[in-house]
Amino acid sequence: MLVLGIESSCDDTGAAVVRDGREVLSTVVASQDTLHAEYGGVVPELASRRHIETIIPVVEEALKRAERGIDDIDAIGVTQGPGLVGSILVGLSFAKAVAYVKDKPFVGVNHIEAHPLAVFLDEGGEEKEVPAFPFVALVVSGGHTSLLLVEDYTDFTVLGRTRDDAAGEAFDKVAKLLGLGYPGGVAIDRLSKEGDPGYVEFTRPLIAKGSLEFSFSGLKTAVLNKVKGFGGGEMPPEVVRNIAASFQEAVVDVLVEKAAWALEATSTRDLVVAGGVACNSRLRKKLKDMAEMEGARLFVPPPRFCSDNGAMVAACAYHLLKRGERGGLDMNAQPSWKE
Ligand code: KG4
Ligand code: ZN
Repeated sequence: MLVLGIESSCDDTGAAVVRDGREVLSTVVASQDTLHAEYGGVVPELASRRHIETIIPVVEEALKRAERGIDDIDAIGVTQGPGLVGSILVGLSFAKAVAYVKDKPFVGVNHIEAHPLAVFLDEGGEEKEVPAFPFVALVVSGGHTSLLLVEDYTDFTVLGRTRDDAAGEAFDKVAKLLGLGYPGGVAIDRLSKEGDPGYVEFTRPLIAKGSLEFSFSGLKTAVLNKVKGFGGGEMPPEVVRNIAASFQEAVVDVLVEKAAWALEATSTRDLVVAGGVACNSRLRKKLKDMAEMEGARLFVPPPRFCSDNGAMVAACAYHLLKRGERGGLDMNAQPSWKE
């Protein structure tokens, strides 16, 4: 089954053609980073307007690269939530219109469920190791920080999520405080390599022993207080590097600790990490070390499938379609989560 996956829940317009939820024939992502950079964060109204401009060329390019026409596509999958409602509306309306006109089945998918399924995608047709169900998924992005128990391609249970800021949001806001531009995750990652992670011992927001919920807003305030300590003056570059590294270390420690707790609480052995923050080199390193210590197996999709893309949406849609799910005309996301 060839599925056209469409993603527009935040600031990336993505489209991909994926066979049987696994084999990526094409994937195209139009980033809006430069559009939002001057504001230091995503401006929802600008994001949805840009999606309107890019969605048709992005889908056309995905079909072209897959050497397929729209008539060759068997079904359409689209992100239906959660995300910025104006942005989602663009992809969803487009998908519904194409599905209606071309008489194709379509299904809306939950963005947070799509992220971990990126681990099953492959582009080269090579045999690769994939996680075994049930596994724990840590979804860490600009909009979400959630731990999920994944018992099957369509069976997700939320184990915990953030009570306030998402991890990526904290990265972006701290980067802004440190004058590093937007999006800030990559900049903090890069700069931290030359910084001292022990420069500031930021409190690790663990909430309570064993809790799988997250909270990052206090950490962001702690960085703000540190920056204010410089009285609004220029901070020396090595101080910026050290604060960045100390902040990153605190976030990474919490994510790694909670992922370990989730593996223990669910007696699972496989851990999948996805979402934009999964690109973070320090997080990857510390998760790898933790997995080795715990005898667990760690799976992280390649960077282009960690950040938002249409291929993960197509993979998620494929399994829902196989289960017989079809989208209606209502706008509400229908997550299959058990809470
Ligand atoms: O998954 P994604 O592309 O979009 C959302 O669903 O939000 O994630 C984007 C987020 C941004 O907050 C960005 O700063 C963060 O992922 N990010 C990183 C890194 N690369 C991207 N955070 C930390 N380290 C990175 N290397
Ligand atoms: Zn995402």
